[in-house]
Amino acid sequence: MAARGVGLLTHLPLRAQRSQVLRPIHRLLSCPGTVAADARKEEQSSGSAETGSEDRTPKKRFSEVQKERREQAQRSVLIHFPNKISEKKFLKYLSQHGPINNHFFYESFGLYAVVEFCQKESVASLQSVTRTPSMGTEAAIPFRSRCFHLKLKNASNQTSEQSCITRSNQSPPSSKKLFELLCDAESIDDQLNTLLKEFQLTEENTKLRYFTCSLIEDIAAAYFPDCAVRPFGSSVNGFGKLGCDLDMFLDLDEIGKFSDHKTLGNFLMEFQVKNVPSERIATQKILSVIGECLDHFGPGCVGVQKILNARCPLVRFSHQASGFQCDLTTNNRIALKSSELLYIYGALDSRVRALVFSIRCWARAHSLTSSIPGAWITNFSLTMMVIFFLQKRSPPILPTLDYLKSLADAEDKCIIEGHNCTFVCDLNRIKPSGNTETLELLLKEFFEYFGNFAFNKNSINIRQGKEQNKPEPSPLHIQNPFETSLNISKNVSQSQLQKFVDLARESAWILHQEVNGHPSPSSKLWGLAALLLPSVAKNVSQTKRKKKKPASERVKNLLESIKSSSTENSTNTNGTRTVNTQT
Ligand code: CTP
Ligand code: MG
Repeated sequence: MAARGVGLLTHLPLRAQRSQVLRPIHRLLSCPGTVAADARKEEQSSGSAETGSEDRTPKKRFSEVQKERREQAQRSVLIHFPNKISEKKFLKYLSQHGPINNHFFYESFGLYAVVEFCQKESVASLQSVTRTPSMGTEAAIPFRSRCFHLKLKNASNQTSEQSCITRSNQSPPSSKKLFELLCDAESIDDQLNTLLKEFQLTEENTKLRYFTCSLIEDIAAAYFPDCAVRPFGSSVNGFGKLGCDLDMFLDLDEIGKFSDHKTLGNFLMEFQVKNVPSERIATQKILSVIGECLDHFGPGCVGVQKILNARCPLVRFSHQASGFQCDLTTNNRIALKSSELLYIYGALDSRVRALVFSIRCWARAHSLTSSIPGAWITNFSLTMMVIFFLQKRSPPILPTLDYLKSLADAEDKCIIEGHNCTFVCDLNRIKPSGNTETLELLLKEFFEYFGNFAFNKNSINIRQGKEQNKPEPSPLHIQNPFETSLNISKNVSQSQLQKFVDLARESAWILHQEVNGHPSPSSKLWGLAALLLPSVAKNVSQTKRKKKKPASERVKNLLESIKSSSTENSTNTNGTRTVNTQT
């Protein structure tokens, strides 16, 4: 029955005349040669462009960004200090150890500063004058990390300048604030860009993520001096929301790489090592020991859980000072490569990240995703779905992975564990899309596309950018881009998929009503804000629980209520919207 509701949607003329209800006047008049069009051009060149294809500034490679940030993190320290402090005196005190490149403050169970020195030697200098605290009745483990406590010798003379400290925000906006911002936006496109701006990782939050990895690297380096702990996933791929987890992996691949030149002559020197029956067992043993170290010695590492029997063994813990929930794995180079691929897709066109963030927030608002592992769809799967959808536009907004592979040169070649992970790494060699569709249209059509997708027989495949026959019967099949025999959404149950489809259909329908001048009758929230309202989800879950009205009937009822409310909710002649505020 639900399909009938969607059939109605599918047959409606989707590109039909767009309602002017939601458009501010300057957008309505935005045609070439007008002042409004010029203002629009200005907006685009200042970076808030809709299509993204107009930004011609050279973009950094993923590997360059990673290297730069890792190096910054290694020169940084974290300092916890009392509220009563003068920023000027604090910086002056620290600069005894060397010049400071950068610093910021933030709040997380107390006030913290991340201070980046210009040279690594400054960190050692600071450590050399730092004492291990005496703990009274408890005993301190004398572990020397890059996390410090600053104590005041004389608190009274510090108070005067304390209020000037600006704290960087590490959390997303509250729902109330978000709804206010969305309702104040000028258009649905503006709403999507606002949501992106509010939720994306800030420069400081990104620095804190690399810094946290660098702290864990210090601990692992006690055993494996040449190791690296690298962040991957949404912390680095451009799709991370403030508050997302911190995925990191212990990279042991570099160890021993530079010893080739020492093999001259008739001799070959090797380390004596312990052998274990498999890679997996080696991984489990290494993670087990690092987990113990984090638990026993890592300042602020709490709630350490060793999840070593998972398909991909990991250590999960909270890092108190940064507030991050961390997942540490080892040798996860393929996942790092998929993070690089997503970084490229996100950077190619500014519409990509705006759309992904909105879909992620939409899914979270309706409990389609969860921070607890289970039969839910994941943010990673949602991102793949958006990429696939954008590959299917005409003309495509994003290229297929096979196309990115065809642009690769010799230095891009990358084979990991027998899987070909080759694609072009230089973003500047990928031609921008000529597609100029608005975010509003893309959002609506995303919901329609997946509200009608033949999940029962088709698989989503970003390598080829077209549907494939499902190779196995999981309800949702999204091919892993590099390990092509894997389904990244194997965990998703039929009921969760159905919930996604139902919500996608309802959201498409709500947006369709909006563009045709029938705003949601139940609320003054419009556009994206109306889609993030949990009440839409309630409709679906209640329908499921009580098995009450079929979708077609619900759609009919909604239509009825819109008909009656459209007489109350009218559009002014100047194009601004008036709505019934009585819910
Ligand atoms: N990954 C994967 N296959 C999966 C799940 C995850 O290859 N089935 C990789 C992806 O590179 C993903 C990363 O592991 O980006 C981290 O996974 P996860 O934390 O689940 O996703 P994120 O992309 O980090 O998104 P979130 O913000 O929800 O953490
Ligand atoms: Mg993650």
